[in-house]
Amino acid sequence: MKVFVIIPAAGLGTRMISAWSGKREKPVATKQFTELDGVPVLVRTLANFAGSPDVSQIYVALRASEIGPFRERLRKDFPEIVAKNPVLVEGGEHRQASVGNALAQVSAASDDVVLVHDAVRPFVTHDMIREVIQAAQRYGAAIAGVPAVDTVKQVERTAEGAVIKATIPRQQVVLAQTPQGFRYEVLKKAFDEATADGFAGTDEASLVERSGHPVMVVMGAASNIKITTPADFDLAEFYLKHS
Ligand code: CTP
Ligand code: MG
Repeated sequence: MKVFVIIPAAGLGTRMISAWSGKREKPVATKQFTELDGVPVLVRTLANFAGSPDVSQIYVALRASEIGPFRERLRKDFPEIVAKNPVLVEGGEHRQASVGNALAQVSAASDDVVLVHDAVRPFVTHDMIREVIQAAQRYGAAIAGVPAVDTVKQVERTAEGAVIKATIPRQQVVLAQTPQGFRYEVLKKAFDEATADGFAGTDEASLVERSGHPVMVVMGAASNIKITTPADFDLAEFYLKHS
């Protein structure tokens, strides 16, 4: 069994930009290329997979204009990543399209495992990666998730904001993270069906769920943050210091 990893890194970081305030210096790069202690977020993420002995091949989806510069940056500063021969592919307009473009380049056997992991979750651990791989192998589909600590409300959006429609029992809720791992045949089928039906999801699990395959949840971690808004960089610096 081989393990392929897809890292979608072709986003524009619009929530990061729209939430920017005068309190910080304007970013010069999209969040996945922003440096934490001199190392771009994407490189930190890649290093966690490049350093995993289970991983055969890594695919990174990037905007077309970023492929050349990123390849050059890796060559210059991060030989340990280059040694793993990551394949840099062009991303798409939405995350699903970026993952789909990479998936189209993967030539896997049906029971090989494909992991998908956000470029902007740099604190994923080797243990978490291994657990998702093992569960994906065993059950066909598995993701990292964490229990909800806040009470979750279902709302209806209104002109004034939102009105609560129901309270969702906390035990019934898990917050989905990545890695999300699948047997190749399971993920491929789910993508093909979503494409045929024009379905758009915000993660791979949602495509697999609708294809009818059960998706297991393994324990993620609070530290496995998705860098989304400016304050997340403060959190990232905190986790960096304490990791
Ligand atoms: N992503 C991608 N291709 C896209 C959109 C997103 O590869 N067309 C990637 C992002 O680069 C990121 C991951 O998907 O690594 C998770 O997406 P998100 O956190 O939403 O990042 P952005 O889409 O860049 O941010 P925003 O939604 O705020 O614009
Ligand atoms: Mg997005």
